[in-house]
Amino acid sequence: MLLYIHIPFCDSKCFYCAFNSYTHLHSLKNDYMVALKKQLKYELQLRDEKIETIFIGGGTPSTIEASKYKEIYEIVKPYLLKNSEITIEANPNSATFDWLEEIHSIGINRISFGVQSFDDDKLQFLGRNHNKSQAIQAIKNAKEIGFEHINCDIIYDTKLDTQQLLENDLVIIKDLPIDHISAYSLTIEEGTKFFNKSNVQVENIELAQYLFDQLNSLGFNQYEISNFALNNKARSKHNLGYWQYKEYLGVGSGAVGCIDAQRLYSSKDIQKYIDNPLQYEEVEKLSSEDIAIEKTLLGFRSIVGVTISLFNNEQKKKLNDLVKEKKLIQKGNRVYSNNFMLADELTLYLDF
Ligand SMILES: C[S@@+](CC[C@H](N)C(=O)[O-])C[C@H]1O[C@@H](n2cnc3c(N)ncnc32)[C@H](O)[C@@H]1O
Ligand code: SF4
Repeated sequence: MLLYIHIPFCDSKCFYCAFNSYTHLHSLKNDYMVALKKQLKYELQLRDEKIETIFIGGGTPSTIEASKYKEIYEIVKPYLLKNSEITIEANPNSATFDWLEEIHSIGINRISFGVQSFDDDKLQFLGRNHNKSQAIQAIKNAKEIGFEHINCDIIYDTKLDTQQLLENDLVIIKDLPIDHISAYSLTIEEGTKFFNKSNVQVENIELAQYLFDQLNSLGFNQYEISNFALNNKARSKHNLGYWQYKEYLGVGSGAVGCIDAQRLYSSKDIQKYIDNPLQYEEVEKLSSEDIAIEKTLLGFRSIVGVTISLFNNEQKKKLNDLVKEKKLIQKGNRVYSNNFMLADELTLYLDF
């Protein structure tokens, strides 16, 4: 089982972001961490399963003092498999050298920085509260401290993107000690500053392809639509786990878990969560069809692929055609997409 822990606090709200995070509720941090530990202990005891990987995401985990994560680590430790990947997200403005050092000493071995770009104008446009040099320094600090794996999130398909801008970012990326890139196409979400604004997002397939090709030539191989790794060891085991449809526990306000064919939603309201951290706000039962569709989508979006036994005879005929047309590759009893961008279309065509 995988473990996701959500930290719903941010120093400021980026103009594109609809994740569950608050900028004005910092006074609730202590109570929140108490509630989080309560839910974590309860769920770990209840499920009594080994934890393969941990992902501490947000919001901004680097807005919480590092010692709190030591307490979390001690709770999970009895359940944790040896040499587990433990990732924490961090923002360049709040991940100080001391914070990173303490986080590393706890045993957290992978850090994911929300960089988005190394262009100061683009950072301002996105509403980020860090600049290029802070991002570079944070990454260098993480390397010096000894983090085994360092990821950098970037965003493309913004109005400011040009080949020159992306090239400038790639020149910087080339010299940084990172072994993973998550590159996300800007999506416009309801409830964000960017919502209903025209011309903020500009989808440009050629520019995206340029970015992917350049990342590839720097050695970052795409193993999922948005994820690129320098080598197999640098691939995120936690994310691979999601795409392999492993069960995951989601702890914290706004976290989502998926266990026993049920999706479990904790309250997005921090105060409600603090008052009752053991109560899921919603439990969604997944039908076998829901699960088959999700497995197909996730499998075709990544190197995971899909087992042929998932499909009925009608679909198997279509699969054969897709293999003949070289849109899918069959290896043993699994099929793989050779263009992750086509995952949605392929799944739709298979008609569940
Ligand atoms: C949940 S955020 C947390 C990371 C961290 N708080 C940060 O921003 O530095 C993870 C990543 O999702 C991406 N993201 C969030 N909203 C997005 C959007 N609307 N479009 C594209 N990428 C988005 C950003 O790249 C961000 O770094
Ligand atoms: S992108 Fe990260 S820092 Fe910005 S609002 Fe979202 S979670 Fe917070």
